[in-house]
Amino acid sequence: MTSHRFSPQGPLTGRIRVPGDKSISHRALMFGALAVGRSRISGLLEGEDVLATAAALRAMGAVIEKDGEDWVVDGVGVGTLLQPEQALDMGNSGTSTRLLMGLVASHGITAAFTGDASLSKRPMGRVIDPLSTMGASFTPSPGGTLPLVMEGMQPAVPIRYRLPVASAQVKSAVLLAGLNTPGTTTVIEPVPTRDHTERMLRGLGVEVQVEEKDGERVISLTGPCDLAPCDITVPGDPSSAAFFAVAASVVPGSDLVIENVGLNPTRNGIYRVLKQMGASIDYLDEREVGGEPVADLHVRHAQLRGIEVDPAIAPSMIDEFPVLFVAASLAEGTTVTSGLEELRVKESDRLSAMAAALQLAGGTVEERDDGLVIHGSGGKPLAGGGPVTTHLDHRIAMSMAVAGLASENGVSVDSAEPIATSFPNFIALLDKAGAP
Ligand code: S3P
Repeated sequence: MTSHRFSPQGPLTGRIRVPGDKSISHRALMFGALAVGRSRISGLLEGEDVLATAAALRAMGAVIEKDGEDWVVDGVGVGTLLQPEQALDMGNSGTSTRLLMGLVASHGITAAFTGDASLSKRPMGRVIDPLSTMGASFTPSPGGTLPLVMEGMQPAVPIRYRLPVASAQVKSAVLLAGLNTPGTTTVIEPVPTRDHTERMLRGLGVEVQVEEKDGERVISLTGPCDLAPCDITVPGDPSSAAFFAVAASVVPGSDLVIENVGLNPTRNGIYRVLKQMGASIDYLDEREVGGEPVADLHVRHAQLRGIEVDPAIAPSMIDEFPVLFVAASLAEGTTVTSGLEELRVKESDRLSAMAAALQLAGGTVEERDDGLVIHGSGGKPLAGGGPVTTHLDHRIAMSMAVAGLASENGVSVDSAEPIATSFPNFIALLDKAGAP
């Protein structure tokens, strides 16, 4: 591991374009692999997490190749995934792991899943439980973690499953298992989470029923399903754009356009919260790309104010809290967050990792069981310092990079390598936006 220093720089200006959405990129490859025939994907995120999904799907029979700027997938069809000869290495990627476990669950194949030190600590019981009820069997490591071996069941048993945690990964795992399960598989979501699986499956010809009942979403599909091959355009990732939106908000003089950002309402919570804090973010040229709402974001520096963040908004910005904590550290007044227990089981325990990192960089933070309370500097740059520990978590590294831009002395991170999992050109784009 080599440490990396993010130094204060001038305003962020000009126009940038962030890479493709990570969630949609994983799903585009998986659905392409389940279609019979050739799908073409443009705008795919070429980050390590997505490449782990591609490698696993290749090991199960799909042919996936780059073709110019696009990617082409020759799918094997639902029900005909091959048994992988070697363990599937999921790297750092929880999304690859949980969604692919869903796929394997209703195929008559056995697969082993391994991951890095961060992924090997993350809970898999949340997918093992419903997928076991569908008939799959699992041999996990103690604590229900990776490495694990699973054996799918064909035909699997359809279930009606109420999500015990707000998780699009668990919802998607069950729905993906349902694609090759005869009968109707239903997931009940007490709190809406990102809905890319539902939107994309519909776009590929699967009848996905979504009913709203007493504030809950009831999502059903009836298998076995056929997926039509198709052309998929992946919009820019709102989670990646958020680092630049916060950076431009907190660095005086900034005036930045971030092009082609996905603004699905189940993902855009960070922009709603930043606006509540007084950020200057305008949506330009609102349009639809690949079945998702998209706009160019025009972000100008503004003095942010602390707020109490409504915990109900958390699922629509679940990955953006680390960078929100940075924004809050530079705001005027106090920001209170709560209801964020899920942050403790992401790529790292993001509540304790961010509390420690911001304190080291000169921020004033109190850690509670379910959130952070942050007393902002009122726009005064943080002192900076480090190296902060990123715990193999790309979003801790990028959030503290943003803190470094708005600091007196810069912030160093123990390693910038994890950034490649979701945003390989992050540092190059920072240089581009910061170049005079
Ligand atoms: C994702 C869902 C979220 C998110 C992750 C991607 C997805 O996880 O944190 O980065 O693509 O479905 P949970 O479903 O565990 O909240």
